[in-house]
Amino acid sequence: MTTDVEFWNNLADAYARKPVDDPDAFERKITITKNRMTPDDVVLDIGCGTGSLALRLAPHGSHVHGLDLSKEMIRIAVGKAAAQRVDNVTFHTGPFDDSFDELTDGSLDGICAFSILHLLDDRRSALTKIFRLLKPGGFFISSTVCLGDSLVPYRPLLTVMRWLGKAPRVAVISRRTVVEEMVSAGFVGVTDTDVGAKATIGFVVAEKPSIAHRGSANLRIEHSGWPRGTKREKR
Ligand SMILES: C[S@@+](CC[C@H](N)C(=O)[O-])C[C@H]1O[C@@H](n2cnc3c(N)ncnc32)[C@H](O)[C@@H]1O
Repeated sequence: MTTDVEFWNNLADAYARKPVDDPDAFERKITITKNRMTPDDVVLDIGCGTGSLALRLAPHGSHVHGLDLSKEMIRIAVGKAAAQRVDNVTFHTGPFDDSFDELTDGSLDGICAFSILHLLDDRRSALTKIFRLLKPGGFFISSTVCLGDSLVPYRPLLTVMRWLGKAPRVAVISRRTVVEEMVSAGFVGVTDTDVGAKATIGFVVAEKPSIAHRGSANLRIEHSGWPRGTKREKR
């Protein structure tokens, strides 16, 4: 079994070459994120991979930070930033946990976490840290692989694949769980947003309250008219 760091380092070059899985849904996610940004915003992209999202967001804010566990992913991201002459992006290498102290609490206008929450060892602590890092009113936009509602027995499959070095550690969670954990962490306006992606992708927009927040009306499930790749899962 390889460690997750080795897994992602080994995958980096192939990941950089691989086309985005669902380009239409990805563009909708980027549009939603850009629309939340203002030119003064400082944004963190957690699990930034080869920097695709960070580099797309950079023209819409004052500075974008990308963090990734894998030095090979970051090597490619830094190369892409140089090739594209983007100078308002900083890439950091390391895990997103309490050891990450390069940005101070309350310093960020927005945080993105695309295809990463299901990979973290301690998701609840990560959500608490994300909440702390944001300024009041800051946005948190995540896209998470949610295999928990599928009929496919992913847990044993992933265990075998991990032993063979073909998968990293993956938490099998439902979209509902992701939303509920964000609400528990203190986020408001938590909105499971339909971007036309597969039902196993949970795209959730949320924010840190800008003032003391009362009541429990902080959870919304929104459905646009976009088609789903697969049938909607049970809620
Ligand atoms: C599926 S890729 C997603 C990359 C990018 N966000 C995207 O949407 O294309 C997951 C990324 O998360 C990184 N990663 C995995 N565990 C991590 C952790 N604990 N802290 C920071 N990054 C992590 C991996 O190195 C990998 O680049």
